[in-house]
Amino acid sequence: MIIAVDGPAASGKGTIARRIARELDFAYLDTGLLYRGVGVMVLDRGGNPEDPEAATRAAESFDPALMADPRLRGDEAAVAASKVAAIPGVRAAMLEFQRSFGRTPPDGRKGAVLDGRDIGTAIFPDADVKLFITAAVEVRAERRHKELLERGSPSIYARVLQDMQERDQRDRSRSTAPMAIAPDAVVIDTSALDVEAAFQAAMDPIRKKQDRQ
Ligand code: DC
Repeated sequence: MIIAVDGPAASGKGTIARRIARELDFAYLDTGLLYRGVGVMVLDRGGNPEDPEAATRAAESFDPALMADPRLRGDEAAVAASKVAAIPGVRAAMLEFQRSFGRTPPDGRKGAVLDGRDIGTAIFPDADVKLFITAAVEVRAERRHKELLERGSPSIYARVLQDMQERDQRDRSRSTAPMAIAPDAVVIDTSALDVEAAFQAAMDPIRKKQDRQ
């Protein structure tokens, strides 16, 4: 069983996807880490994440072990990720890894949960369940701002909001596999939901699907 969880940054999709995987004992892949990893590789090599050749070269030599690098969680990695993610050669290089993770989940698990932007539209158009998790951009920026302050990082709300709007725009408007809602996705707006309510809303279509199988 493959569960696709797509949506913009700070929508809650990562938290929800991880909880679904734990609940069902499925494998979990945060596909954002692939693009973050490629972005950081390009920066480490002194390159420009917007340079298609540099980014494609990095993607083609990408080692999944890089996904554990703590630097990938930072905002510099996020910005670089959203730039390399617009390059078709990068997306092509990442396609097979994601498909094989879903088709043959590690550790003999019976299913996989993948979270990203294009899982239900491009990576697994036949996913068993597709969720699109979203929230108002102001709410997402506020969550991100709080998270940064709690971590002890300096943060200015207006700046976080602007960065988030720019990143959304880049992710939505790129020509290859833009962030989009699959026609058969269940949309969950978490703006006014707490984690538990959002998780239950996400489990509902999954349980229905399981009952039908
Ligand atoms: O989910 P995240 O913040 O870790 O994603 C980082 C960037 O990677 C995001 O701006 C868009 C890109 N991305 C993508 O294009 N496709 C995915 N499946 C996952 C992430």
